[in-house]
Amino acid sequence: MSIYEKIYENSIKNPEIFWGEVAKDINWYKEPTKILNKDSGVWFEDGELNTCYNAVDVHVENGKGEDVAIYYDSPVTDTKKSISYQELLNRVSKVAGMLAKAGINKGDRVVIYMPMIPEAIIAMLACARIGAIHSVVFGGFASHELAIRIDDICPKAILSASCGIEIDKVLDYKILLDEAIKLSSHKVQTCFIFQREQKEASLIDGRDLDWKVSEDNANSTPCVSVKSNDPLYVLYTSGTTGKPKGVIRDNGGHAVALKWSMNNIYNCKSSQVYWAASDVGWVVGHSYIVYAPLFNGCSTILYEGKPVRTPDSGAFWRVCEEYKVNVLFTAPTAFRAIKKEDPQGLLAKKYNLQSLETVFIAGERCDSDTLNWIKEISSTPVIDNWWQTETGWPIAANPIGIEMIPVKAGSPTKPMPGFVVEVFNEKHQKCKANELGNITLKLPLPPSCLTGIWNNEQGYIKSYLSDYEGYYLSGDSGYIDEDGYLWVMGRMDGVINVAGHRFSTGEFEEIISSHNAIAECAVIGVDDELRGEIAIGFLVLKSNVEAKNEDIIKEVITLMREQVGAVASFRIATIVPRLPKTRSGKILRGTMRAIADGKSYNMPSTIEDKSVLPEIESAINELGYPHKTKDIK
Ligand code: COA
Ligand code: AMP
Repeated sequence: MSIYEKIYENSIKNPEIFWGEVAKDINWYKEPTKILNKDSGVWFEDGELNTCYNAVDVHVENGKGEDVAIYYDSPVTDTKKSISYQELLNRVSKVAGMLAKAGINKGDRVVIYMPMIPEAIIAMLACARIGAIHSVVFGGFASHELAIRIDDICPKAILSASCGIEIDKVLDYKILLDEAIKLSSHKVQTCFIFQREQKEASLIDGRDLDWKVSEDNANSTPCVSVKSNDPLYVLYTSGTTGKPKGVIRDNGGHAVALKWSMNNIYNCKSSQVYWAASDVGWVVGHSYIVYAPLFNGCSTILYEGKPVRTPDSGAFWRVCEEYKVNVLFTAPTAFRAIKKEDPQGLLAKKYNLQSLETVFIAGERCDSDTLNWIKEISSTPVIDNWWQTETGWPIAANPIGIEMIPVKAGSPTKPMPGFVVEVFNEKHQKCKANELGNITLKLPLPPSCLTGIWNNEQGYIKSYLSDYEGYYLSGDSGYIDEDGYLWVMGRMDGVINVAGHRFSTGEFEEIISSHNAIAECAVIGVDDELRGEIAIGFLVLKSNVEAKNEDIIKEVITLMREQVGAVASFRIATIVPRLPKTRSGKILRGTMRAIADGKSYNMPSTIEDKSVLPEIESAINELGYPHKTKDIK
């Protein structure tokens, strides 16, 4: 048995002994004596701790105050800054005081809608310090999306900035925030606005406060003790329905699993440099820009830029050289963008990449071409890892901190401790080796996995726990091969993954249907060379519509941009006379996708009218699909 196999087996056979031991690596105010409540699945029930203490204070107390906690690198503003653990502690304590002064207490919610600036991390840690629950909303979401989240989480305060910068465009975040507050029924008491010099925002009297002034005038505030299972944050993600789901993460399980993952999966030890090139608005940003590297006393990089065009496709390699990055983690899309502009990796050759030990990729399926390209250009192992907002850390990976399992390109390798991955077919039978089915995780889930869905206990049970009794349904399809490697092939539900960003086709359809010319519509994800997947809309018009088709398409695209945000990259729609449906009225999205991806498909036996498919096929062909050059999956 290999070391990994022994550790894994122990975690499954003796979960309480395994995680009880791992939990000793965390500083608790009250050490947990109950490791797992088998009835509720709650970890470390009677433990008490503070997440911010474990991420910041502890390192200062241990004499690491002068070590760099955050390297902020912003090519879009031409700024570079190093923030030590001591400086981080000073600022987080003051911002915690600023929140406390505004009446925010343990259990209150705070929305954070920020660009990639250090204040975003400071805000998250300050909430954790006082036991407030943060809910970060990705800065690329438009007002409508922000408003939905405000109404669900009902924050006492919102922390935001005057603007964000996308390459060379200055985006007025404050206008988006004001609009979102106007749209939402919940009325927030206080907004703290961080004024950036690229664009100052005007503040609304009685509601908005200048962040810098408030921070300067606040008292430093100590950490409070919270129960292990108290929520640290709620992060919204897309599901099968139009409404985003607020994934609840606890304090204790999160700290325990994330710190373990840094050493054992990512092999990034204390004082090393870790770079997750993502955004704090996504789970990868929460776990691996902010919490895990700081729990482990590493230096984390906060990069406000793109893989390309800021200023060129050598940007990632420049950052790796400049900060002596040991571990780089990003989405395959970022590398596909770099590869497209610099296929020979000429820019990479300009930089010294000696410090770089490993590249990790996650967020979407990685094609083997891209994986092999990264390996060749970076001269490091490239490790795929599969996980979800719901788990907060990898379900399957190659734990190179323990030992390197031989890589099979395209597979995220094997399950991590505590995760029992099983694949079931539609008949609810366990799949044989190599048989494609629904990927499930046996309950109880290990520490750090979601403890529920905010405001929606029934939705949690319905979406995740009701299909296979005793199992969590991941929503992904895949198989386990004869050597026990997991292969994740794509979503089984209406979730699509555009440039590593998760969206719901159901939500897109709801927004498109709100256009007054649309009778009904279908949105499907199709393979895309750069973004992995891209959404395409099929629109059926109401009978009395007089506007030109091309005008309606333009309006629908604008509507999506205004409602979801440009980040949805919704740029393709077409008008069709009708949609293919089953006799019970279900739209045959899977069949439409197979046509667009150029895959073979069987005529569904339940189809209502066979003559619809040729119409759809010709509409898809007119859009230029299936692409002849495309070979993503
Ligand atoms: N705030 C505001 N707008 C944003 C935004 C943000 N945080 N992020 C993206 N957008 C906007 C962009 O400005 C762009 O707008 P435009 O249509 O007006 O040009 C649009 O959303 C699409 O953005 P993006 O997907 O970033 O496209 P791009 O062409 O600018 O860049 C890539 C393409 C591949 C370089 C980029 O998608 C990328 O870096 N992907 C990696 C994704 C990633 O790290 N995912 C993390 C999950 S692990
Ligand atoms: P998110 O919750 O935004 O992190 O998205 C999670 C989804 O992204 C998963 O359910 C998968 O569909 C997809 N995903 C994440 N990582 C991988 C991976 N390594 N391989 C394949 N798909 C992945």
